Amino acid sequence: MSTLMDRIGDEGTLDDIIARFHEKLLVDDLTSPFFKNVDSERLHRKQHWFLTMVFCGKSEGVAYYMQESHAELVRNMGLNETHFKRTLEHLESSLVEAGLGADLIAEIMALTASLEDPILNRNAKKL
Ligand code: HEM
Repeated sequence: MSTLMDRIGDEGTLDDIIARFHEKLLVDDLTSPFFKNVDSERLHRKQHWFLTMVFCGKSEGVAYYMQESHAELVRNMGLNETHFKRTLEHLESSLVEAGLGADLIAEIMALTASLEDPILNRNAKKL
């Protein structure tokens, strides 16, 4: 069965999506404060790694990893569903602009949306 990554086509497209996504997050007053102290090169690499992993279908442990990497943001900066929804909108428009098909976009969005609870540290789990 082909993975999401196969269907996206190539890494170049992934870079394009990530670049667009980051630009949107950084110019939006609602989301930009969260990224103020984050080295954007570092975040770019990590987002790339994350998306590659998800797109390739090797997503075990992702929920816990997402919970831990956003825990401080929830605790100290009030990260909540408003920020999450806006971030999803930015991801979706990046996928549209990068030229992905509607079915593929729907699949990626469903997958990302399913991470809402761990990212917002609802029912936080310990490993
Ligand atoms: C929508 C789904 C989201 C995904 C897939 C995602 C993915 C990631 C990944 C992979 C990392 C790197 C974790 C690491 O350090 O190893 C990360 C970090 C981060 N995320 Fe998210 N994230 C999402 C939502 C959000 C939202 C809604 C915000 C805030 C508006 C946000 C803000 C951040 C920040 C500021 C970091 C950097 C933390 C640091 O390195 O100090 N994320 N995210």
